[in-house]
Amino acid sequence: MCGIVGYVGSQQAAPFLLQGLKKLEYRGYDSAGICELNGTLRIHKTRGRIADLESLLATEKIVGTIGIGHTRWATHGSPSDHNAHPHFDCTGNLAVVHNGIIENYQGLRQQLIAEGHCFLSETDTEVVSHLVEKHYQGDLLTAVAQAIVELKGSFAIAVLAKDSPGELVVVRQDSPLVVGLGNQENYLASDIPAILDYTRNVYILEDGEIARIKENSVDVFDMKLNLLEKTVFEVKWDPIQAEKEGYADFMLKEIHEQPKAVRDTIAGRMDEHGNLLIEREIPRNLVAGITKVQFIACGTAYHASLYGKHVLEEFLDVPIETDLASEYRYKRVKADQNTLLIVISQSGETADTLGAMRLAKAKGARVLAITNVVGSTLSREADAVMYTHAGPEIAVASTKAYTTQLACLCMIATYLKEQVSGEKEITLLQALANIPEQIESVLLAHEHRLEKYARRLLHATDAFFLGRGLDYASAMEGQLKLKEISYIHGEALAGGELKHGTLALIVAEVPVIALLTQETLIDKMVSNLKEVKARGGNILLLAQSNSGDFSDVGDEILLLPQTHCLLAPLLTVVPMQVLAYYAAKVRNCDVDKPRNLAKSVTVE
Ligand code: G6P
Repeated sequence: MCGIVGYVGSQQAAPFLLQGLKKLEYRGYDSAGICELNGTLRIHKTRGRIADLESLLATEKIVGTIGIGHTRWATHGSPSDHNAHPHFDCTGNLAVVHNGIIENYQGLRQQLIAEGHCFLSETDTEVVSHLVEKHYQGDLLTAVAQAIVELKGSFAIAVLAKDSPGELVVVRQDSPLVVGLGNQENYLASDIPAILDYTRNVYILEDGEIARIKENSVDVFDMKLNLLEKTVFEVKWDPIQAEKEGYADFMLKEIHEQPKAVRDTIAGRMDEHGNLLIEREIPRNLVAGITKVQFIACGTAYHASLYGKHVLEEFLDVPIETDLASEYRYKRVKADQNTLLIVISQSGETADTLGAMRLAKAKGARVLAITNVVGSTLSREADAVMYTHAGPEIAVASTKAYTTQLACLCMIATYLKEQVSGEKEITLLQALANIPEQIESVLLAHEHRLEKYARRLLHATDAFFLGRGLDYASAMEGQLKLKEISYIHGEALAGGELKHGTLALIVAEVPVIALLTQETLIDKMVSNLKEVKARGGNILLLAQSNSGDFSDVGDEILLLPQTHCLLAPLLTVVPMQVLAYYAAKVRNCDVDKPRNLAKSVTVE
């Protein structure tokens, strides 16, 4: 989730590049840079925001009429001047910007170093500049086409060469790119908002398409360099809609980004046979000989830790504990050198989470962080980090950060099991690989139904979320989503607890969202649901597709794709997010900025 811009024309490139980058700053903002060609390639880049880049450029004379630019959301390598894009090859003849993740960059990097290439950054992107350099024999288009055959992963790439003045070569695979068509000038952007002030006519590149952009022409080719005929698409969105890619709110956009976010998070971390490749991120000695695992986190990340605890309890014999960071800080800390402390935080900046981590660290605990923000305080202070590759999350209510945290936890649990008992969990990982597609199908099949169901919540004051086992952990996240954005009071309950108090609140038409994905607990849950039914509660039931007929208990039944029972929470949470979203909409709430809440809580 970074932003790319490019310009070829008769005007100076820099004003468009800077303005375009500002429009894309919401996609990534830890460092930024541009490269312009004016006889020679000159790169100007810096850690920080676009405003920092602007200050840097204030003292420079930028006159090139062709250039590329990038605003970064770090994934490989911390936010720094040298990791900022663009990246040169060895000779300074080529400059590259890239969005996405090159999954096989480590192997390529080693191979290129062995061949004599010299790397200046820790990024995955830099392998692209050296690979194109390797293939370059005077024709940039051919060199790019040959280089990308060697890349695995998702990428949108733009390349500029000193020896090929007057052209940009760009390519897309699983990461968006559009070419804006102007008069004697053409534009490039990863996202439409960057070019809306300049043109509304664009070519939307498809996966595997390569474009050569010149001042007066844009040619689009397939991977084998056959020329394609593209249709001009006229963009009718206003700038705000464009930032949200046509979705009404960032939260809805982020809900829909989950298939890609989960795909990016597992990409490169396991092979097609279900073998894990995360030892580089989590060294063996970090987990060797652990006698206890503790989780700490806040909010949604805490709910992810409940998932982590449950899965780890299935896999390990050592005690697994989870605490709210704000509670952990004020109780007797029982961590030592053999404790693995798993700290989960989207932002990596939550004050309570950092405070709790420091206490455990002071007792000798080994800290493994799961965070979305490279270079965050948590990532810097932890002994090891596994990043969620969700991209920036803008809506206050967390969605894609949660599902990617679960994906990381699933891989970590499997890794720990392997390290401790030598046993692999190949079926679980194989099922994880299918989750992105299954999330897509859940959205496709149920979003509209949930939108309709949400109208029932217009005047609701309470809603109850019931589940047992892992479903209870998911119910906790479901109730939080509903209450934080729709202001309906939500309460999660373990099915068996219902009769110990809350049953008193179940009256006619009270909404009850019931989760029924854990095979061994289905009969128990059905009994609990009968207790609800008998009192007139209205049950929205989420179950896996082949787990039985629940028509006698569910008023509305949503069948989810069949998956490994430990992965069901990655699917059940999606309809609960969608329900919360539409409930908030019918109640006219500000979905992205709920009252009294903040995205990142950096005070105690
Ligand atoms: C805030 C946000 C929540 C988030 C929590 C923890 O309350 O509104 O969405 O779950 O902080 O944030 P973290 O960045 O540590 O995951």
